Amino acid sequence: MRNALLIACAGLALSIPARADRLPVPADAPPSFKAECGSCHLPFPPALLTAPDWKRVMAKLDRHYGDNATLDEKTRREIEDFLLRHAATKSRMAGAGDPPRLTQTAWFRREHRKVPDPLWRDARVKGAANCAACHGRAEQGSFRGRELALPELRKRERD
Ligand code: HEC
Ligand code: HEC
Repeated sequence: MRNALLIACAGLALSIPARADRLPVPADAPPSFKAECGSCHLPFPPALLTAPDWKRVMAKLDRHYGDNATLDEKTRREIEDFLLRHAATKSRMAGAGDPPRLTQTAWFRREHRKVPDPLWRDARVKGAANCAACHGRAEQGSFRGRELALPELRKRERD
């Protein structure tokens, strides 16, 4: 009886989706993911774009949002496979742009609807892709409201 209850509880816990404020790099990430995709910016959480989007990102690394992020084919494949394993399936996670941006999904816009427009262009922020400018613990995969790094955002939190 007790065991049955425990099993039922474990099943319930598994069916609850991971909290949206915790987006750590999945444990099966190849070392190349952090090394290559975390050298110019945060290694973005793979769950923030859909599989077709990640394929498009990984298909044109030589023209990567104005930069060149080319990889050898073995490493490119290894990272792509990892991203696809964890890609989002919901349409609200579909990116826009060429290559697609995870800062242009319906989900991202909604989560960030309270950010005042000029703040995205603020010298301390420099753009929506610079997650760590606002999320003080982004490097640790944590995006909780109380960890917001800019004073004006923290004030908002309290309101
Ligand atoms: C040589 C530097 C460099 C490397 C290496 C690099 N990127 Fe980028 N990446 C950039 C720049 C620059 C941008 C544009 C940032 C901006 O618009 O503020 C960007 C943007 C992105 C975006 C879009 C962010 C948004 O605005 O929504 C994604 C997704 C992305 N990179 C994924 C990756 C992945 C996956 C890898 C590893 C395969 C990678 N990047 C490696 C420089 C790099
Ligand atoms: C200009 C500042 C700013 C930037 C840059 C920014 N965010 Fe946010 N983010 C916020 C604010 C403000 C909220 C809303 C927090 C709240 O209401 O709890 C938020 C909310 C979130 C949430 C939801 C947290 C929750 O409590 O469910 C996630 C996840 C998130 N951001 C991820 C990102 C990622 C990933 C990036 C970079 C690609 C990013 N953010 C860039 C300010 C920013």
